[in-house]
Amino acid sequence: MAFSLKALASRNLSRSVRQFSSSTQNNAKVAVLGASGGIGQPMSLLIKQSPLVSHLALYDIANTPGVAADLSHIETKAKVTGHQGPDELQECLEGCSIVVIPAGVPRKPGMTRDDLFNTNASIVKTLAEGCAKYCPKAMIGIISNPVNSTVPITSEVFKAAGVYDPNRIFGVSTLDIVRANTFIAEAKGLDVSTTNCPVIGGHSGITIIPVISQCTPKVSFGEEELAQMTDRIQNAGTEVVNAKAGAGSATLSMAYAGARFTFSLIEAMNGKQGVIECAFVKSDLTEATYFATPLLLGPNGIEKNLGIGTLSAYETKLVKDCIEELKKNIKKGEDFAANN
Ligand code: 2OP
Repeated sequence: MAFSLKALASRNLSRSVRQFSSSTQNNAKVAVLGASGGIGQPMSLLIKQSPLVSHLALYDIANTPGVAADLSHIETKAKVTGHQGPDELQECLEGCSIVVIPAGVPRKPGMTRDDLFNTNASIVKTLAEGCAKYCPKAMIGIISNPVNSTVPITSEVFKAAGVYDPNRIFGVSTLDIVRANTFIAEAKGLDVSTTNCPVIGGHSGITIIPVISQCTPKVSFGEEELAQMTDRIQNAGTEVVNAKAGAGSATLSMAYAGARFTFSLIEAMNGKQGVIECAFVKSDLTEATYFATPLLLGPNGIEKNLGIGTLSAYETKLVKDCIEELKKNIKKGEDFAANN
């Protein structure tokens, strides 16, 4: 069983495992906040597969003992601990080098990610306060939507606590890249394991900007086909929400993406060179003060923001058209943090 679950891990997951099983210290404590939820459970399962993780600490407000007991029987090295409720958050977070946060509620058909703000903003704020207090140096990966607002909330919490380091706070937009790679490879008959399309901007609707002109290998689409492909990547989350018909949003593919991002962070923290992931981070590249771009990761988080690169005229317009929306989302998060 453990072996077949390992097979679930993608090229990146298994690649990480192969490259690092013999050469690194393999001692990361990773916390998942929201570990009992739809994303949290499968993501914790994937993270439990990694020999790079020595301790997997699971936090949620309910059902954590069960999830932790279940995962703890898996024959991989990570010790699994369960922490339930605010009184146990400190124990979960102390000593963590990475915290991944999928906590909160998912979308139902007809909802935008922003419609989740009222519920998820305070959940993320509370958890970010815990991180700022108990593991201020940890890398923080925010999955809880709306990411365009929850990342600024997290930054403001860290600022207020006097421990802010913009190089360590990430909005996990990896699923947008994963989707772009999958759809482009399918459309062009490419090997998906070697297809890589950067996705920049934010993580909702028109703010999701696939940079297909920078895809490797190089691909070309006719005008209409390009618009359709871009639209599908931008609305892929909604495609899942509609297919699930009220049962939530993407959980399994998001879990995969969250685990991929976590492993990239661990690899970079362990000294691997050339680890690049796109993520939604503090940025001065556009008028929006947060913007997703490819990032070179290192032991201290973002080593270098690799920037937007050369865009086609079509992509340039997509960026221009999303900035106001992005600014609004960011301000909403910052205002919430200031007023609550
Ligand atoms: C998505 O893109 C859940 O935001 C996530 O599907």
